[in-house]
Amino acid sequence: MRKRSPEKRILKSLLDISNFTNFVENPGLILSLLIEKCVLLTEAEWGVIISYDSALSLDDIQVTKVLSDKKKSEMSSLLDKKIKTLVDARGYNAVLTEDLWMKDDTKKIFKGSLGKGVRDILLCPIEKKGRFLDIAIAVNKKSKADFKKIDQKNFSIMCREAAIVVENINLFKEKLNTERMAAIGQTIAGISHYVKNILQGISTGSYLINIGIKEKEISTVKEAWEVVSKNTDRISDLVMDMLYYSREKKPKMQDCEPKALIEDVAQLIRPKAEKKNIKLNVSVKNLPSYICANEKGIHRSILNLLSNAADACDKKNSLINLKAVFAQETGLIKISISDNGKGMSKEDLKRIFQPFYTKAKREGTGLGLAITKKVVEEHNGSIKVDSELGKGTTFEISLPC
Ligand SMILES: Nc1ncnc2c1ncn2[C@@H]1O[C@H](COP(=O)(O)OP(=O)(O)OP(=O)(O)O)[C@@H](O)[C@H]1O
Ligand SMILES: [Mg+2]
Repeated sequence: MRKRSPEKRILKSLLDISNFTNFVENPGLILSLLIEKCVLLTEAEWGVIISYDSALSLDDIQVTKVLSDKKKSEMSSLLDKKIKTLVDARGYNAVLTEDLWMKDDTKKIFKGSLGKGVRDILLCPIEKKGRFLDIAIAVNKKSKADFKKIDQKNFSIMCREAAIVVENINLFKEKLNTERMAAIGQTIAGISHYVKNILQGISTGSYLINIGIKEKEISTVKEAWEVVSKNTDRISDLVMDMLYYSREKKPKMQDCEPKALIEDVAQLIRPKAEKKNIKLNVSVKNLPSYICANEKGIHRSILNLLSNAADACDKKNSLINLKAVFAQETGLIKISISDNGKGMSKEDLKRIFQPFYTKAKREGTGLGLAITKKVVEEHNGSIKVDSELGKGTTFEISLPC
């Protein structure tokens, strides 16, 4: 096999390190790949990576050749001692300068710790956020000669690249963690707000029940009891919604009639629409007689979209169009719900599918659209939204059948 030119070899090694980031999330693994690559590139006999945590306690030691555990622990404690002495004497920043590690007297300090038969070594610090945290060591050139200038150069280029890769992984993890914490915070705020409203309702109802009992007015007790009962229903709905949203198992699919299902939902929303003087048009075309679906899930999704549309309508001549059509070419049922209500801003549009995001003044949990999206995706379908502030909104669900 033809040997690659030195430039191609270093390029290939750098590429390998960068590519590794695509499927490895563990900085320790990146470092172990780094030392393997460095050993190949510099034609060394073996190599070591010794890693520290930010408090400079020994974290890990990786050696490319097999050593007994006893030998490894001897070597790591000796190396650790040398590194700590060097850090104490020179400070973190001085230790980061590559020149320091290339000097013969520094090499001499470390050679003894690596055991007998060590002729020459390459040393390079790996810095993270401007701090010394790892040291890479390549031991003995295979040709029995000393390492050359080019070996030194390649070794430090590889260590710098590995530092960037490891730093990127750490930054990505930090970002993920921050986003996760922010999402948990939003969820807790959403639940607390909603539960607080319910408790307020229950406490008002209880207060009225007490008054009714004191005054022996059964009608007051009855009315107040309805308030309490409505609020306990809301708690139970909330818990069911949260369970549905967090549930991992597959929903129950069954044969159902799409036309009947859509007409039934429309019927349910009519009283709310009439109360708000909203005209509701329903058009159902070419739907198959039966589809296999999670009937309850689809029912509640369309009901939520219609209910949101009705909530958004607050002017004269309000209109909601519910259309369902089957397109033979694509094999998709498309259900669209459009309104000429208040519409949404670009900022709102980015957040509406997040659980507990709501702008409803009362009642809304903000789980409606999060669950709707989940139901649609469980059917391998998709949901899209188009909205303009002050003009109206259209949601469109596509379901394969
Ligand atoms: N058609 C629409 N027009 C304007 N805003 C809408 C429309 N649909 C949804 N939204 C906005 O998206 C938010 C989230 O809707 P979602 O259905 O998830 O929750 P909700 O309706 O507030 O409460 P829930 O459905 O849990 O009772 C709504 O509070 C509203 O601000
Ligand atoms: Mg809703």
